[in-house]
Amino acid sequence: MKAIICPKYGRPEVLQLSEVEKPTPKDNEVLIKIYATAVTASDIFIRSSKLPIQFLIPMRLVLGLTKPRKSIIGLVLSGEIESVGKDIKRFKIGDQVYGLTGFGLGAYAEYKCMKETDSMRGCLAIKPNNISYEEATVAAYGGLLAFQYLGKGNIQRGQKALIYGASGTSGTIAIQLANYLGAKVTGVCSSANLDLVKSLGAETVVDYTKVDALDPGAQYDFILDAVGKLKTSKLKESCKQALTPNGKYVSIDDGGLLLDSKRLDLIKEFIEAGRIKPIIDKCYSLEDIVEAHRYVEQGHKKGGVVISLVEQTGSIG
Ligand SMILES: NC(=O)c1ccc[n+]([C@@H]2O[C@H](COP(=O)([O-])OP(=O)(O)OC[C@H]3O[C@@H](n4cnc5c(N)ncnc54)[C@H](OP(=O)(O)O)[C@@H]3O)[C@@H](O)[C@H]2O)c1
Repeated sequence: MKAIICPKYGRPEVLQLSEVEKPTPKDNEVLIKIYATAVTASDIFIRSSKLPIQFLIPMRLVLGLTKPRKSIIGLVLSGEIESVGKDIKRFKIGDQVYGLTGFGLGAYAEYKCMKETDSMRGCLAIKPNNISYEEATVAAYGGLLAFQYLGKGNIQRGQKALIYGASGTSGTIAIQLANYLGAKVTGVCSSANLDLVKSLGAETVVDYTKVDALDPGAQYDFILDAVGKLKTSKLKESCKQALTPNGKYVSIDDGGLLLDSKRLDLIKEFIEAGRIKPIIDKCYSLEDIVEAHRYVEQGHKKGGVVISLVEQTGSIG
C-alpha cells in the first residue's frame, strides 16, 4: 500500500511517499481503507519536533527519542471498514468510520488497523452520513477539541463567550457550538477571516492584527483559547483580564485531548442535525503531503487541511 514515511524529525521535506506492506487485522482489530486524512497542528509538531522544552521531552519519550518510533505518521482518518477480526463487535465490513489514531499514528496511508475500544492509540466511530470523508477528518479533530474544551465552560443560554482563534480547525467548530448553546459569541481572528467567523455565528468579531485590547468594560462568562499557548498577541493577553467574576478562561492546551468515541457519536448527531458543519480550507493528494505540511506550518489555515486518498473525484459522500 502507499504510505507517507517520516524517517526523522525535521522539515516537511523529510516526508517520503513509500510502498509498504498492507497491515492485517488481529482478532481485536478492524482494517480501515482510508479515504481521507488531515494535516493538523499536531502533525506539524510531531514531524518537526519543534516544541518548547516542557512539551518536547514528554513528546519524544512517547513518540521516539531520535526519530518517530512509528514511521508512518498521521493522526486523523476517515474511511471504510474493509475487514474485521473475529472479536470485533461494534463494526462490520462496509461501515463508514472516522476517528483519531492517537499515539498509534499511521493515518497517512491507504490502510490502518485499529482496535474498536478507545485508548491513547485512538478512537473510532461511525462517521456522520451527510458529509464527505474529507469533512469527517475535520469534524473528528476539530470536533473532539472544541467539544471537550468548550464543554469546560458549561455555557448557559444568554451568556457571553469569546473564542480566541476562531478561524482554525477547532475554532470554527467552537464558534458554531457556542452559538448553538445560546451564547452571545465574539470571535477573534485576523482581517481575512472576519466574514467566515461571522458566517459561523459570531455576533461580534475582533481582529487581533488591528486591535490590541478589548473595549473597556467588555466582560465574558467564558473565554476559549482555541489556538493554543504557542500563538499569542497583545489582544490575547488583554482577554485574560476580561472575565466576569465567575468567568472561566480555558486554553485548548490545558490537559490532554480525550480520545472518546462517545464524543465522536455526539459530534455525528450535531452534524447530521445541521447544528455544525466542518470547514475545509484546502485539499491535497497523498503525493502532495510536503506541500500540505508547508502550508499548515505557516499557522494560518482556515478550518482544516485535508488529504484525499480518493482518486479522480477527490471527494465522496
Ligand atoms: N490539549 C491537547 O491534547 C491538544 C491536542 C491537539 C491540539 N491541541 C492544540 O490545539 C491547537 C489548535 O489546533 P487547530 O488545528 O484547531 O488550530 P489551527 O487550525 O492550527 O489554527 C489555525 C488558526 O490560528 C489562527 N492564528 C494563528 N496565529 C494566531 C494568533 N497569534 N492569534 C489568533 N489566531 C491565530 C489562524 O488565523 P489567522 O490566519 O486569522 O491568523 C488560523 O486560522 C493546536 O495548536 C494545539 O496547541 C491541543
